[in-house]
Amino acid sequence: MQDFFEFGLGARILYKAGLVREMSSEVLRMGFDARRALIVADKGVIDAGLLDQVKEGLQDAIEIAGLFEDVPANSSVRAVEAGAALAIENGADFVVAVGGGSPLDTAKCIRILMTHGGQILDYQGYNVLDRRLVPMVAIPTTIGTGSEVTPYAMILDEEQNLKVAFASSFLAPDIAILDPEMTRTLPAHLAAATGMDALSHAIETLVSTEHNPFSDSLALHSIDMISNYLRDAIHRGGDLEARGQMLVAACMAGIACANSLFGVIHALSHAVGGKFHVHHGTLNSIFLPYGMQFNSAVVPDRYVRIALAMGVNIGGRSDAEVIADGIAAVRTLASDCSLPARLRDVGVPQDALEELAAIALTDGAIFNNPRSATQEELQEILVAAW
Ligand SMILES: [Fe+2]
Repeated sequence: MQDFFEFGLGARILYKAGLVREMSSEVLRMGFDARRALIVADKGVIDAGLLDQVKEGLQDAIEIAGLFEDVPANSSVRAVEAGAALAIENGADFVVAVGGGSPLDTAKCIRILMTHGGQILDYQGYNVLDRRLVPMVAIPTTIGTGSEVTPYAMILDEEQNLKVAFASSFLAPDIAILDPEMTRTLPAHLAAATGMDALSHAIETLVSTEHNPFSDSLALHSIDMISNYLRDAIHRGGDLEARGQMLVAACMAGIACANSLFGVIHALSHAVGGKFHVHHGTLNSIFLPYGMQFNSAVVPDRYVRIALAMGVNIGGRSDAEVIADGIAAVRTLASDCSLPARLRDVGVPQDALEELAAIALTDGAIFNNPRSATQEELQEILVAAW
């Protein structure tokens, strides 16, 4: 165990089917001195009609100061600055974000500018913020990012074509509302990609150099839930029990990684996602088996526990066999989710791999990987995954 660790719970977490329609009382119970909400959502949320539930949930108690819906698939500097300008112009004093990782991360960063002003890139990096931000309610409509509880945001800097990290305990939302009704219209391919993102959070957290007994317990149970419910959550979209289980599993994995950080899988995924704008969860799904294989050389006991949580039978077999079966179980889950297995399948050109390895080497996620990786080793993983 670590000599020192810290474990914090940022958001108040509420779970109930249909809760969004009655959320104003929960918002008021938080005692915020805020009554004018900027709603941040993307086109998918609006097209799915999910905003009606949010408006119904806020009515009477909360005024809607504005709706910012111009959120791209990968949250961007331009979107953050436009959203913040709208919030300030309309006198919003808190933010309600609805959607997947992109609207939630965009909303987190809009709060930075609502509170501090200036340009968003001035606040990139770790622990730059020095005080609380305007309040935020996060309503996830996907089943995996965990953004509703994490103190991070990844924002695409369009000028450099790079994903920029923002990390501060002040970034975590104040309330996370887990309402499986809000995932009912989530398409199968996004359920698959975001579900595998959640699995990558749990697995990377368990092997991170910063893991601790609190994050371990959340991550292990999250893996168990994902391996049992992700398939039904994808292939039986109306199965609110499966979608609810996945919402909770993703949130648990989010809390775990908020406290114990990421590793090589996210470093590679950020590099490729920044350059080629492939879905984050899809990339994590591709990199998971390779990252697990690479790291299992240094923390095999951790991968035995992961295999066990994936449902692998341990009895009388060597650690190496169990670990191999755990990695195979992750591959099978990704394949059952109809996700692509290789980088070539998602449009990444072979001649980009060297540059991608160099970018991944500088990504903050890699610093807590249990095995230090050279640029050559990262390139080997990229070549294998291509
Ligand atoms: Fe992720």
